[in-house]
Amino acid sequence: MEKVIDEKVQGTALVKEAKEGNSKRLFIESYGCQMNFSDSEIVASILANEGYNTTNQLEDADLVLVNTCSIREKAEQTVRKRLEKYNAVKQQNPKMKVGVLGCMAERLKEKFLEEEKIVDLVVGPDAYKDLPNLINEVEEGRNAVNVILSKEETYGDISPVRLQSNGVSAFVSITRGCDNMCTFCVVPFTRGRERSRDPQSILQEVNELWEKGFKEITLLGQNVDSYLWYGGGLKKDFAKASKMAQATAVNFAQLLDMVAEAQPKMRIRFSTSNPQDMTMDVIETMAKHHNICNYIHLPVQSGSDRILKKMNRLHTREEYFEMIDNIKKLIPDCGISHDMIAGFPTETEEDHQDTLSLMEYVKYDFGFMFAYSERPGTMAGRKFEDDVPEKVKKRRLTEIIELQQKHALYRTQQQVGKTVEVLIEKSSKRSDAHWAGRNSQNTMVIFPKENYKVGDYVMVKVEDCTSATLFGEAVDYSPMNA
Ligand code: SAH
Ligand code: F3S
Repeated sequence: MEKVIDEKVQGTALVKEAKEGNSKRLFIESYGCQMNFSDSEIVASILANEGYNTTNQLEDADLVLVNTCSIREKAEQTVRKRLEKYNAVKQQNPKMKVGVLGCMAERLKEKFLEEEKIVDLVVGPDAYKDLPNLINEVEEGRNAVNVILSKEETYGDISPVRLQSNGVSAFVSITRGCDNMCTFCVVPFTRGRERSRDPQSILQEVNELWEKGFKEITLLGQNVDSYLWYGGGLKKDFAKASKMAQATAVNFAQLLDMVAEAQPKMRIRFSTSNPQDMTMDVIETMAKHHNICNYIHLPVQSGSDRILKKMNRLHTREEYFEMIDNIKKLIPDCGISHDMIAGFPTETEEDHQDTLSLMEYVKYDFGFMFAYSERPGTMAGRKFEDDVPEKVKKRRLTEIIELQQKHALYRTQQQVGKTVEVLIEKSSKRSDAHWAGRNSQNTMVIFPKENYKVGDYVMVKVEDCTSATLFGEAVDYSPMNA
């Protein structure tokens, strides 16, 4: 995903799509992966029907909700700091209620209410529809908790309130939970088993976004390649479904195809792909449709076969290379990014060198790189000693990051001289006279505004670059411009 954004405050919700007649104020803040940001939009929609409009002023809020991330220790620390801040504001405004949503709520459950006295409400990722009842409980002076994980909930029937939106790009969630059980990962415990959302509700949301003027969607799931709709239920129960349900099931490649065809002028992105679940038909579908962006986020986590096995990543280094080769064969200019973990238990210098050599082979466009953080309850947390010294982890992580920067620059330099299609998203952060948008490969492109506007597809001749950004000049509208 573009992606794990934890450890950084992503700011607060803008007052968007305010519902008339609503008098209560909700301040909602999100940490972590894109799925959390997407879930907060579902929460805002549920609460809009309960009289709440969003505010970006913490001090004005009647209800403060923080959507939390447990993926690494540091992400949890960030949230705890925010809770302290809310507490300070609450001292001035005792009527204000504070709730914790998402993965930390699920992981810590009631403990949160006991340990963190300022929390009134604890709600796990599958219980947001219960928020109206839970808020009533809180208003009647009781603490409220619902952390029940569901087998069916996909929030397919809820039309999200778009928060922090530039009006151009939106997230559309397609699966929830994850069945992969990577040994380092807390997600299967905090977000439950994997289930897919009804393709009709996905199409309806995409069509509505198009009607509202959005030009780009990102289909979201912890493991999108594993999408499988057969009438509802958990992915793991597919084998038990009726023959009819199995025969009419929709997989991820088919879903991509449906969405791309439904809105040919809309850019389609997706995240996250898992190498063990990604299939050739997904790559073929990408190659078939111009509006499916040439970009794949394909986390690998390590370049060492021994470590991959210990992580329960069900592919080898060779198989990963094969997948990369196949992608490049069908989509030669495909952007590829990764997630990498430095210092997984027992990782040796040789394993680390394998990671660097894997990166050298792929030469990724982007990377999201982390030092291993032991998570309580995971297989690795229970069974493996966190035995790589912090100093060694940091050094290896630095080497990985430096190599990634070198490769990113190599990739952007290859774009110089080319003309690329850009979807304009916003003004450049550095200059009001320039637009910022991304090319199909997901790299930022900056160019003079001229008469173009936000939401236009333009062809930009690239003249210069840094490792993260392309600079150029627009030459014309793209044929994608409706
Ligand atoms: N499939 C998910 C993965 C979520 S976690 C997705 O949609 O992105 C995102 C990344 O965090 C993982 O790919 C992994 O690189 C990293 N990560 C997960 N658990 C971790 C841990 N215990 N320590 C360090 N990094 C971790
Ligand atoms: Fe986590 Fe692995 Fe799923 S990283 S989200 S268990 S694919």
